Amino acid sequence: MSKQFDILVIGAGPGGYIASIRAAQLGFSVACCEFSAYDDPSGEPRLGGTCLNAGCIPLKALVASSEVFEKVSHHLEDHGITVSDVSMDVARMQKRKEDIVTKMTSGIQFLFRKNKITLLKGRGSFAGRTDAGYRIIITGKDGEEEEVLAQKVIIATGSKARHIPNIQVDNVTICDNEGALKFTEAPKKLGVIGAGVIGLEVGSVWRRLGAEVTVLEVMPSFLGAADESVSREASKLFLKQGLQIRLGVRIGQAIITDKGVSIAYTDDQGSEHTLECDKLIVSVGRIPNTEKLNLEAVGLQTDERGFIPVNDHCATSAPGVYAIGDVVRGPMLAHKAEDEGVLVAELIAGQKPHLDYNSMPWVIYTTPEIAWVGKTEQQLRAEGRDYKTGQFPFAANGRALGLGDSEGFVKMLADAKTDEILGVHIIGASASDLIAEAALAMEFRASSEDIARTCHPHPSLSEVVREAALAIEKRALNM
Ligand code: FAD
Ligand code: NAI
Repeated sequence: MSKQFDILVIGAGPGGYIASIRAAQLGFSVACCEFSAYDDPSGEPRLGGTCLNAGCIPLKALVASSEVFEKVSHHLEDHGITVSDVSMDVARMQKRKEDIVTKMTSGIQFLFRKNKITLLKGRGSFAGRTDAGYRIIITGKDGEEEEVLAQKVIIATGSKARHIPNIQVDNVTICDNEGALKFTEAPKKLGVIGAGVIGLEVGSVWRRLGAEVTVLEVMPSFLGAADESVSREASKLFLKQGLQIRLGVRIGQAIITDKGVSIAYTDDQGSEHTLECDKLIVSVGRIPNTEKLNLEAVGLQTDERGFIPVNDHCATSAPGVYAIGDVVRGPMLAHKAEDEGVLVAELIAGQKPHLDYNSMPWVIYTTPEIAWVGKTEQQLRAEGRDYKTGQFPFAANGRALGLGDSEGFVKMLADAKTDEILGVHIIGASASDLIAEAALAMEFRASSEDIARTCHPHPSLSEVVREAALAIEKRALNM
C-alpha cells in the first residue's frame, strides 16, 4: 500500500524545505522529495537546492574571502597597518566554502528529523489523481520507483542556468554558476556574458583575487532593474575597481582554444571583436525546472516561458496543487521562495497570509553592496506618480569613515502628498542589512517622517537611512 501524506513537497530548496517545516509546524504529515542535482560524496541528496549548493551561500562565502583578501592587500595602509607577502590559497578558500555548505545542508537534514518530515530520496513526478489524493512517483537514483499519495502537493523544483544556444558550457572552461564557484585558481583573464546579478557578484570575486574581468552585456544600459542613480554610481565605482563592462554587445561564437576560450562579439557600433580569456562565465538568467514532472497527468502545463502558472496565492489550476519559488513568476530570490513556502503552508492550514511583492528587498553583493525595496525613480516617473526624494551620502557618516567604507548613498522616495515611503535604494557598506529597516517600514506603510523621527544608534551606518528620510523634507542634519 502506498504511503500517504497530507502534503508532499517536490524539491528541497529554500522554497520546498521551508514550506515543509512550516507545514509540519502546523500539524500536517509532510514528505519532501529531492532528487538532488548536488549529491555529497556519501551519495545522500544534499538539501537546500540552488541557494545552498550552487548559489547564495557558496557565493557569499567566496565574496567574503575575496573581500578580506582585497582589504588586506590594498586597504590597510590608512589604518597604519603594513602587511607583506599577502597571498591567496584558492583551494583553502574553496574548502572553507564547501565546509559552510556542508554545515548548512546537513542542518536541513537535522531540521527535517526534528520536525518529523519524511525525506523521500528521488525525483518526484505526477501520475494522476484518485479519491485518496494525488499519486506521485518517486524515482530513486537506481531507477527504483515508489508511489506515494498526498492530499496537497507543493511544487518547489526551482531553476537552472540558462545557456546560450551556440556556446557549450562544460563547467571547466566555459562555466555557468556551478563551475564559476569552483575555480581552483584565479583566472588571469575572465570573460563574463551577462552583467546581471551573478555576472557582477562572481565577476567581482575573481577581480578581487586578481583576474582581469570583462563583462559583455547585451542591453544598452547597465543594471536596468536598479534605480537610475544607483546604476550610475555602481557603473562609476565598478569601472574604478577595474571591472570592464561592455554594453550593447552581440555575442557570436565562443571557441575553446589551447590557452582558454575565445569569444567573438560585436560592439554597440557594429564593430567586431574577439575577447581572449582563460575562463568564461555564462550568466544570462535562469529557467524553471519542470521537465519530468509530468504536469499533464494532473492537467497542468507551463506558460510560454516555462513557468508554472499560479494565482496570487501560488495555487495552480489543479485543486490542492501549489507552486512556489523560482518555478513560478516573480523574482528568482531565495527569500521570495521561502516566504511563498510559508504562505502556502498557512493557506492550506486555513490561515489568511498575504505577501506584498513590492516590499521584497533585492540585494547585489558587490563592493559596495547594492540593495533596494519598492519602486525606482524611473518607475514612479513612468507611473506619473508625484514623489519626493531624499538622498544622503555615506561619506558624511562617521561610522562609514571609521570603517573606511564611505562610498555610495541612501536614496529614499516618498509620496509627495501622503509621505508614504515608495522605495529605498542603497549603494554602500552593509546595504544588505540596512535595507531590512526599509522593507519593514514599507510593510507597515510607514512615512519617511516615521523613519526620520525614529532614534537610530550613533555612530552607525543606519544613520544614513535616517538622514535620507530627513532629506526628503530638506532637513538632513549632517549635510
Ligand atoms: P531551488 O533552490 O532551485 O531548489 C529546487 C530543488 O528542487 C533542487 O534541490 C532540485 O534538485 C530539486 N528538484 C527539482 N526537480 C525535482 C523533482 N522533480 N523531484 C525532486 N526534487 C526536484 N537569491 C537570493 O535571494 N540571494 C542571493 O544572494 C542569491 N544568490 C544566488 C547566487 C547564484 C549563483 C544563484 C544561481 C542563485 C542565487 N540566488 C540568490 C537565487 C536563489 O538561489 C534562488 O532564488 C532559490 O534557490 C530558489 O529556491 P527554490 O526553492 O525555488 O529552488
Ligand atoms: P540576471 O537576469 O540577473 O542577468 C542576466 C543578464 O544577462 C542581464 O543583464 C541580461 O540582459 C544579460 N543577457 C541575457 N542574454 C544575453 C546575451 N545573449 N548576451 C549578453 N548578455 C545577455 O541573471 P543572472 O545573473 O544569471 O542571475 C539569475 C538569477 O539568480 C537572478 O535573476 C537573481 O534572481 C538570482 N540571483 C540573485 C542574487 C542575489 O539576490 N544577490 C545573486 C545571484 C543570482
